[in-house]
Amino acid sequence: MSKQRVLSGVQPTGNLHLGNYLGAIRNWVEIQQQYDNFFCVVDLHAITVPHDRATLADNTYKVAALYLACGIDLAYSTIFIQSHIPAHSELTWLLNCITPLNWLERMIQFKEKALKQGENVGVGLLDYPVLMAADILLYDTDKVPVGEDQKQHLELTRDIAVRVNDQFGSKDKPVLKLPDPLIRTEGARVMSLTDGTSKMSKSDPSEMSRINLLDPPEAIAKKIKRCKTDPVKGLEFDNPERPECNNLLTLYGLLSGKPKSEVAIECQDMGWGQFKPLLTETTIEALKPIQEKYQMIMSDRDYLKSILRDGRQKAEAVANETLARVKSAFGYSTPL
Ligand code: TYM
Repeated sequence: MSKQRVLSGVQPTGNLHLGNYLGAIRNWVEIQQQYDNFFCVVDLHAITVPHDRATLADNTYKVAALYLACGIDLAYSTIFIQSHIPAHSELTWLLNCITPLNWLERMIQFKEKALKQGENVGVGLLDYPVLMAADILLYDTDKVPVGEDQKQHLELTRDIAVRVNDQFGSKDKPVLKLPDPLIRTEGARVMSLTDGTSKMSKSDPSEMSRINLLDPPEAIAKKIKRCKTDPVKGLEFDNPERPECNNLLTLYGLLSGKPKSEVAIECQDMGWGQFKPLLTETTIEALKPIQEKYQMIMSDRDYLKSILRDGRQKAEAVANETLARVKSAFGYSTPL
């Protein structure tokens, strides 16, 4: 039996942080041997908020290099750049025309981001989840490993696929495959270092709120030293009164590889003065091999580009086949 297919992606906006790693990329690495995987750098999504044309291309390569540095293995996975495959934009248009506007207006991420942009909010931001649905549906994807914040977008992707199948397919011959989200419980929602009730995010104006994968040891030490805690001695998971404590213990567990039960016992009598240096050391050690590998990959751009060229060819063959299937189901003539 052939392997099930996985697809996921990260936007090349800002620096990738521990939320992106623990909520998404680390999980891709862990499951990749069981699946046929496609990981894209979603640079079309990156322009749904104002972007800098001087850094877009470079940031896109950097994210691809980070995928490899984190352990994505080309023996199991294909890495490519979303904008290099026109089928992503074309399927988005087709899906736009069958997606009700009010489905998109309901999206939490749209509402949050639109609020930040005020009057200037672009159509692309509203359309973001349709482009994401196109990314997923083009590859007949079975599983989509993401952080918890993307759950609603995946539900929408399924709703769009069902609508296409209802309108243009038949029971025994659906046009699109329905994907399932793959959201791990631990690490699915890494919280800010300055506020344990809000998500760690690239768009938070404060650098102190997040640890980036490429932060040098001094920056990691400084951020953890200054991060928000509470005056209670003895550390514990799952106390709703202590969101920062839960978040920092979770980070320690995930980065050290120790199970939650072990961390709970190890830290139950600790004060912050003892825990913070431990978390600092653990974070620096966990990120060190990623940072070293990243530097190696970035020093050979030709190699990176050749990987992305191969990736594009492989991905494009799959994407074009699905696009042709959808266009035919919609009633289009085949190109002459
Ligand atoms: P992006 O770049 O915003 O996030 C990339 C991944 O990181 C996860 N993530 C987090 N996980 C845990 N805690 C956090 N604080 C945290 N912050 C971010 C996100 O859930 C995501 O998995 N819309 C996608 C990009 C995308 C995509 C796709 C994903 C475009 N097309 C197709 C899957 C399939 C996103 O959120 O990018």
